[in-house]
Amino acid sequence: MTELDSVTIEQLDGDAALAAIPDLTEILHDAVANGASVGFMEWNTQDDFEGFWRGVAAEVTAERILLFVARDESGIVGTAQLHPTAKPNQPHRAEIAKVLVESRARRRGIGEALMRAAEAAALALGRDLLVLDTDEAGAARRLYNRLGWTEVGTIPRYALMPDGRDCGSTFFYKTLSREAC
Ligand SMILES: CC(C)(COP(=O)(O)OP(=O)(O)OC[C@H]1O[C@@H](n2cnc3c(N)ncnc32)[C@H](O)[C@@H]1OP(=O)(O)O)[C@@H](O)C(=O)NCCC(=O)NCCS
Repeated sequence: MTELDSVTIEQLDGDAALAAIPDLTEILHDAVANGASVGFMEWNTQDDFEGFWRGVAAEVTAERILLFVARDESGIVGTAQLHPTAKPNQPHRAEIAKVLVESRARRRGIGEALMRAAEAAALALGRDLLVLDTDEAGAARRLYNRLGWTEVGTIPRYALMPDGRDCGSTFFYKTLSREAC
């Protein structure tokens, strides 16, 4: 995957997350406009997307979310999040969320690189049990299977597609080990 030579994966602090809001807003807008079921509908506005990222930046500043971006020569082209579980009885668990790669930058291994960065960061934090869920029919399901995640099952009608159709969500987990990362 030679194209990845020109892509870097970075973890952003709170200030960098704030500075990245315009690019992240564009990536989220692009995903929704292209039919991804990622929490928003096609009628959501730029303000809605920006507000979402302002909330994420605040959580990054509070050290409750780890935010990763992929950059190429054109700027930020992808992102992923790690949410360490806050519950006292789940100190070993974290959730992966909002894995998004701009449509023009897909199929170059950027999604995989973002996932590997989030998994490595989880392991460094001692979070060796990861969970996530995704649209049962999207490209992400293949990505997670390829990266060794285990499918638990699919809940029909869990969410909506941006155009209002039903969307089943497939739930995954992965137990990390130092050797694998
Ligand atoms: C899911 C998503 C993040 C994947 O991002 P990506 O950067 O395209 O991921 P990768 O490039 O690592 O893998 C995608 C495919 O490209 C292939 N690929 C990777 N590098 C490649 C290369 N250099 N040449 C050709 N194909 C390549 C992979 O094998 C994979 O194939 P598959 O679709 O048959 O599984 C992206 O499609 C996306 O943003 N989707 C919309 C949002 C979404 O649904 N996110 C998940 C929310 S949980």
